[in-house]
Amino acid sequence: MSIPIHHYDAIIVGAGLAGLAAARELESHGKHVAVLSKLHPLRSHSGAAQGGINAALKEEDSIKSHMFDTIKGSDYLADQDAVKLMCEGAPETVRWAESMGAAFSREKDGTIAQRPFGGQSFPRACYAKDRTGLTLLQTMFEQADRDGVEYWDEWYVADIIQENKNVYGVVAYNIKTLEPAIFNARAVMLATGGYARAFKINSNAHANTGDGLSIYARHGLPLKDMEFVQFHPTGLAGTGILISEAARGEGGRLFNSEGERFMEKYAPEKMELAPRDLVSRSITKEILEGRGVGPNKDAVYLDLTHLGKEKILSRLPELRDLAITFLGLDMIHEPIMIAATAHYSMGGIPVDNDGRAKLNQEHRIHGLYAAGECACVSVHGANRLGANSLLEAMFFGRHVGQTIIEDLRKKDFLIHKEPDQKDADRMLEEINRIMTSNGDERVPVLRAELQESMTQNAGIFRTEESLQKQKKKIKELRERFNHIRIDDKSKIYNTDLQEAIELGHMLDYSMFIVEGAIARKESRGAHFRDDYPKRDDENFLKHTYATMDENGEIHMDYKDVNLGIFEPQERTY
Ligand code: FUM
Repeated sequence: MSIPIHHYDAIIVGAGLAGLAAARELESHGKHVAVLSKLHPLRSHSGAAQGGINAALKEEDSIKSHMFDTIKGSDYLADQDAVKLMCEGAPETVRWAESMGAAFSREKDGTIAQRPFGGQSFPRACYAKDRTGLTLLQTMFEQADRDGVEYWDEWYVADIIQENKNVYGVVAYNIKTLEPAIFNARAVMLATGGYARAFKINSNAHANTGDGLSIYARHGLPLKDMEFVQFHPTGLAGTGILISEAARGEGGRLFNSEGERFMEKYAPEKMELAPRDLVSRSITKEILEGRGVGPNKDAVYLDLTHLGKEKILSRLPELRDLAITFLGLDMIHEPIMIAATAHYSMGGIPVDNDGRAKLNQEHRIHGLYAAGECACVSVHGANRLGANSLLEAMFFGRHVGQTIIEDLRKKDFLIHKEPDQKDADRMLEEINRIMTSNGDERVPVLRAELQESMTQNAGIFRTEESLQKQKKKIKELRERFNHIRIDDKSKIYNTDLQEAIELGHMLDYSMFIVEGAIARKESRGAHFRDDYPKRDDENFLKHTYATMDENGEIHMDYKDVNLGIFEPQERTY
């Protein structure tokens, strides 16, 4: 059977905000673009960022202050030139969204409303009630659609086509029919999301499995700073569904079982609006020390009752609905229960400031670009500030679209190569192996064991012992993965098959998280080692670059952080 080959100027994998922003930029400059996505675009994870998008819009605020907050928040691991680029581009990014029709909430004087968020010295999160991500996603989808972007929804991209560090396409199959296809272009951009689903309690949708990272790493290409995983302080108790930081931005308070507003102990100045790493650790510590609430004592209270009905209904209606639906608690009348939830990935595919994937400081991978959560520019370093992810996705998505336009213009810069039918072999062999494998291991069991053990051993608090235990566990799970069996052998919407492929990806990037965390013998941002509780700039003010060999072993390398005008200081709030 001959596999169809589709030709484009550029291929975008992933239809979240970053992918759509790039696609729209390319299409509006006359480029022929395909967006491949395993989901309908409006179901992508960008919609989960409820609370806002940062930009220094007001006279009393400044780009420099936005930069400083971001860099301090990152525990000084962010590259300062990249942060500058993003913060300078933020006001224009918000105006761009507004000009396309994004309906931001307003102040009384008609200007865009902005609310406080964690770790910020000014209320700079522009918002649309508590549906900011969804509003931006809908706007971008409609505009890209109107411009003629071709969407390949429910197509699962299983491989990139790469030869000698040149990328010229992807291999995918139609989830509805299992029909394979090859997509050829001189530029491929990955916008495939992050890896928080490696953990049991997380805020990510079931389908949000961060496949792009492992697909990429399986070509022996490096991943950067993978040990940094953000735990958002406020996930709904038991489910991890996100309760936006907007709740604390609007004045929400945290209480333990003894009625103490415990953030007084941990961040006396910023209280509940300290950065996420610090608030998540504080909540978890309260729980571990026996001051949790709820039937299992594994949550704390988030109290919003003092805000009043009108404010809650006008600013936080979605959050109220979520708490009523999943906990049966109405935040207008009573506190709700929350605990930290794995939310965001600071690490990912190393890219330069223009989104070109790079092997190291000097060498790049031609034809390959990345933006959004799967990319590591890096603007978030060891800990991202809330409301900087919608900004990153919108700003860098569009910016990388512009880079691709520029690169496509340069003669011979990106190679044109006709793909071979053999390029699909790897994907077809994997599908065949899973469909015919007749072992006794089950995908949901292995996935649950992975997520449970990652939370236990490589979560908010880590030690050498817990991480070594987790490394062993992943090795065991990888071995058992070779002996799986799926029940559905059909070609129609075979979600058993898809979940098996996704599990393989989760196992691979989990190993990157764990190996990175073992090697980083310090605490910085979201990476906290009980056995090395201090930040160690002398040895670890550097980025991790890790690669995986054919045997699945991870190899470490390190690169300098691009420092700038902000000298690393002790981080207090
Ligand atoms: O809390 C939130 O609204 C999430 C926003 C973000 O992750 O930036």
